[in-house]
Amino acid sequence: MHEFRYRRNTLYCEDVSVFDLADRFGTPLFVYSYHTVIDHYVKLQKAFGPANPLICYSVKANSNLAVLKALIDKGAGLDVVSGGELFRAFKAGCPAQRIVYASVGKTEGEIEEAVRRGILFFNVESTPELNAINRISKKLRKVTAVALRINPDVEPKTHKFITTGKITNKFGIDFASAESLLLKAHAFSHVTIKALHIHIGSQITESGPFVSAISRMVRLIRRLNNRGVRIEYLNIGGGLGIVYDKEAPQTASAFASKILPLIKESGLKIILEPGRFIVGNAGILVTKILYVKETRRKTFLIVDAGMNDLIRPALYDAYHRVIPVKVKKSRLHTKGIIADVVGPICESGDFLAKDRKLPALHEGEYLAVMGAGAYGFSMSSNYNSRRRAEEVMIVKDRVFVIRKRESLEDLVRNENIPPFLLGL
Ligand SMILES: Cc1ncc(COP(=O)(O)O)c(C=O)c1O
Repeated sequence: MHEFRYRRNTLYCEDVSVFDLADRFGTPLFVYSYHTVIDHYVKLQKAFGPANPLICYSVKANSNLAVLKALIDKGAGLDVVSGGELFRAFKAGCPAQRIVYASVGKTEGEIEEAVRRGILFFNVESTPELNAINRISKKLRKVTAVALRINPDVEPKTHKFITTGKITNKFGIDFASAESLLLKAHAFSHVTIKALHIHIGSQITESGPFVSAISRMVRLIRRLNNRGVRIEYLNIGGGLGIVYDKEAPQTASAFASKILPLIKESGLKIILEPGRFIVGNAGILVTKILYVKETRRKTFLIVDAGMNDLIRPALYDAYHRVIPVKVKKSRLHTKGIIADVVGPICESGDFLAKDRKLPALHEGEYLAVMGAGAYGFSMSSNYNSRRRAEEVMIVKDRVFVIRKRESLEDLVRNENIPPFLLGL
């Protein structure tokens, strides 16, 4: 379900006209539907209800404080991957015991902060990292709970840049090494390994890869149990796919119906880390057509949003639906166009859509790039010294600016010209 629909030929987010938003706040503009975010969270929570899961929303997908707070208020925990995301989690009011922390490269300072705060688990990605957490915990006179992230070596059938559970990926620890680490866990005086974690990739539309990875995990946990090692939690990661184009991804309840039987007998507590599933279709990027450029080969709609605002098409060749904010009756019977929707950045990779069938469109019209709620703003940058976009959250007919557009001064705020260059 998502809350972006046409009403009287204009696109609405919940009860607010996207055209009015673009006019009022300017473009590029990210528009999020609060109720879509919550609906997706609740769907997953209900589907896994019998197992009483902790759903740790993956902050990297969309890390705006308002999105985090909305989910925390509904009972979500957070999955963080850096000191910056940990800072955001606390800033948004997340209880420490609802935070899990993954990343192959946690620094000493980041570990120290998370140990001091007493987060639920570090998702540990290597033996040297486990040593570091043990050492830092000892220094701080704490015993820290950790999960071992296992690399289950499964093929998640998604884009190669977003697979994370194959043995050639940098993530997690292989089964054999994990098993021997767990059997000598007593050697780590200041950590307790309470959980196992997997995250096999992103935008996975079928349950098969999850089923295969989780079954292997349950078998490992059973083997460990038989040897006196008790694992309390299984964190099955995120990765649930959504509809961008013609995908038919599993629903939350179909997914749960495949996963719950696998863990039913085990008595394990379950954690999920969805990102895209919750926010992907809860956000759009609104952009304005600056020019319609006809060449002998192609038509380009040159818009004011670029790869710095939404890098997914350039990075993963990702598909995003692009639709006009206003459907004009006058053009319903005119011939459409095939166009590339491109940004103003000086890179040929700066496109939002390629060879797309669209109605005949004109300068000044607004377009909505759909499915931009996940890995949109959070992956955006200032490349070409472009200010990052404004973000608004819609709650029925109410509009909240949840991040102001950056100013030109923001672009240079932390830069200094050394005195010698100023002749001083
Ligand atoms: C460890 C971990 N958990 C969860 C996620 C969220 O993935 P998704 O947005 O596909 O649900 C990611 C994404 O890369 C991740 O690395």
